[in-house]
Order: sequence, then structure tokens, then C-alpha cells
Amino acid sequence: MKTLAAAAVDGDALAARYRANRARTRAIYATLAPEAYEVGPIPLRHPFVFYDGHLPAFAFITLVRDALGRPSIDPALETLFNRGIDPRDAAQAQQHRRSAWPDRAAVERFGAACDAAVLDAYATARLEDSENPRLVRGEAAYTIVEHEQMHDETLMYIVRRLDRALQRGPRGAHRDVAPPPREPIAIPAGRATLGAAREELAFGWDNEFERCEVEVGAFAIDAYDVTNGDYLAFVRDGGPVPPNWFERDGAWMLRATYEDLPLPLSWPVYCSQQQAAAFASWSGGRLPTEAEYHRAAFGTPSGEERPHPWGDAAPDPARHGNFGWRRYDPEPVGLSPDGASAFGVHDLVGNGWEWTSTPFAPLPGFRQMASYPQYSHDFFDGMHYVMKGAGPVTAGDLVRRSLRNWFYLDYPYMDATFRRVYDC
Ligand SMILES: [Fe+2]
Repeated sequence: MKTLAAAAVDGDALAARYRANRARTRAIYATLAPEAYEVGPIPLRHPFVFYDGHLPAFAFITLVRDALGRPSIDPALETLFNRGIDPRDAAQAQQHRRSAWPDRAAVERFGAACDAAVLDAYATARLEDSENPRLVRGEAAYTIVEHEQMHDETLMYIVRRLDRALQRGPRGAHRDVAPPPREPIAIPAGRATLGAAREELAFGWDNEFERCEVEVGAFAIDAYDVTNGDYLAFVRDGGPVPPNWFERDGAWMLRATYEDLPLPLSWPVYCSQQQAAAFASWSGGRLPTEAEYHRAAFGTPSGEERPHPWGDAAPDPARHGNFGWRRYDPEPVGLSPDGASAFGVHDLVGNGWEWTSTPFAPLPGFRQMASYPQYSHDFFDGMHYVMKGAGPVTAGDLVRRSLRNWFYLDYPYMDATFRRVYDC
């Protein structure tokens, strides 16, 4: 693994990423009918108005107000929109439900003021300060950029659940082809490196550190993700129905992001971790551990480990997989052979996050982030499971080996798929 030299924090480059994020968020909101603004299509997620305020508010609070110590813009709106953690259950959701949000013009004015202050900070402030815990290696300046990228991804699965009459999104071009012949691939015993050393990355979230090595026994793994077609046999045998499937006139349909499609049998199935585990055991396999995912994705027959499944090249959605917003929905498994791992396992990055059987937990050497201490810590409860890889609307610059995502075990809406492993 190459070690990246810790580059000086580049305010112009971060400002460009921040602007691109804001533009993408605006483009997502442009696909919602005006009446959708206060709608929350998923009961345990906030309505769209919240995220419209939250994204610029979090950026302003984290970098400008709390890290740089500059004055507040509007303390009441900052408090209202800073609360980024979604409610855990229906009772809490009820508590959080407000009878009235500020009107849209007020939220947009507040957001514009936050953006102006953030861009001014990127242009003028000292973003890196080893004496200020929130600015060590530019932590807050990077945090707010990746925070919005992650929210834009999760916004899309909320948009997908919105009443079609309130959507104004584009229809996509979709393919459904016969999946390639699929034989599990043998992965010999070997070493997997999880996490990263702090000096290896310009920025990483708290749960990505420290770097640790684990020995993994031999196993075999599906070369491709489990498809809708594979999963259909399980449903016909009484298995749980995935969240975006429904029946119309006796035929199975898929709720894609902006349209309903006849169920594309060659696409990876998206489902909860519990549903994935149930399918795996019904069909004679099990879900991979996080370390087994790393072996299959980054290991090589020679024992070296790679930064990406395909090698050293920077992630390129045109070559390596279905990520980076080139489409909103999955595509048939195996369409990105250039992104296959050294062992010949396909789509490990892209076309849907990959569920593992590993509960989300800190790596040895974990330390909470000064600028966002609750980011991971609140989820180390044994009920959240690690997902790896990337989905169609994961930003290309979030694709890195150490990145870990996680969701509640029966949370059904995420762009998450799976493959099985088999003990040798
Ligand atoms: Fe947030």
C-alpha cells in the first residue's frame, strides 16, 4: 500500500468540492414538486425541508462557527437544523415532528448565508492548525465536504420513496441482460488490512482508523452479487419481499428512483441485512465478514494488497463500476469487468453497497473526531452492520479502501446488496 504524503490543505480545491456539492443538492431538490418540500416519505427520516437547512447549517457550524470561532448567523435556525441524527423509532419521530417549519424562502436565505460564510472561510481562514483539535490536518474543512456527499446519497433513497406524483425526475435508460455464468471463486487464506494509518489519508472518518491486519481463512465467494432473479426464487419459497419490489397485475415490479420497472432480473437485489442473511442461509451460504470482503476485493494471489479492486488507478465510474452518479439505479451485474478484483470478483465497488456479517465497531486505535464526535460513536451498539464498497450515487471521491458505511440490521431502503461466501 502506497503512503500518500500529507498534502497541505487546499482551500481552493475544497471550495470547488463544496460548490459542486451544493449544486448537486440543488439539482436533487429541483426534481421535487414544490408541495414535496415538507413531506417525509420515510417515517424515520426527516422531511426534505430539514435536509435543505441541515446541509449548509452543518457546514457553517462545523467549520466556521465551532472550528474557527466566528459568530453565529441565526442561533435558532442553527439549533433547529444542526440536529442531524435521524430518530430511532416512531415515538422519537413523533417528538421530532414539527407542526411548522420555517418557510422555504427563509430556509434558502439562511442556507445562502451559511454558504457565503463557508466559502469565505475556505478563501481566507487558516484551515489547518495543529493547536486546534477541530483543525488538525484540516479535519473540519474536509468533514463538511464528505458530510454533504453522504447526505446527497441518502437523500436519493428518500426521493425514491416519494409519491411519483411529487417527483419531477428524469427517466433513465435501463438494461436487463442474462447474467454471466456464475461460479463461486476460491480465495486462499491470507492477510487483510482493515482501516488506514492516519498519515496515509488526507482525510478519513474516525471509524477508518487505525490500520490493522487480520488473518483470514480460506473461503469461496460469489463472483457476482445476488440478483433480483436469484432472490425471486426465495420469495416464491416464502422469503421476505425486498423493500422496492411490488406486484402489479400479477407481475413483479421494481420501484426505481424515478420510475417503476418490470423487475430487472439481472440487477443486484437491494435489501436489508436481515433479508440478505436470510437468503444466504436459505441458499446454503452466509454473508462475508468485513475482513473477507477485504480479502476478496483488495487481496491478490501474490499476497500483495491493492488500494482498489482493480489496482492503483484512481476510481473512474466510466471504467470501474456503477458509482459516481453516472446513473441513479443499479445495472446488470458484471457490466464493469475492468473493475473486477485480482481474484476475478465483480462489482465489489459500485452497483450497490455490500452487506457484511460484521457488526459496526471501532477499529483498534479509534478516536472520536473533534469536529463531529458523535459521527460513529452513537452507532457502536451491535445492531448496526458494516457495508463496504459503493452504490450508484456514491461520490467517486468517497471510494477508498478504508471507507466503512453502516446501517441498522433491518433498515431496508439503502442501496445495499450482497453476495454469499462458502466455507471451504
Ligand atoms: Fe448530517
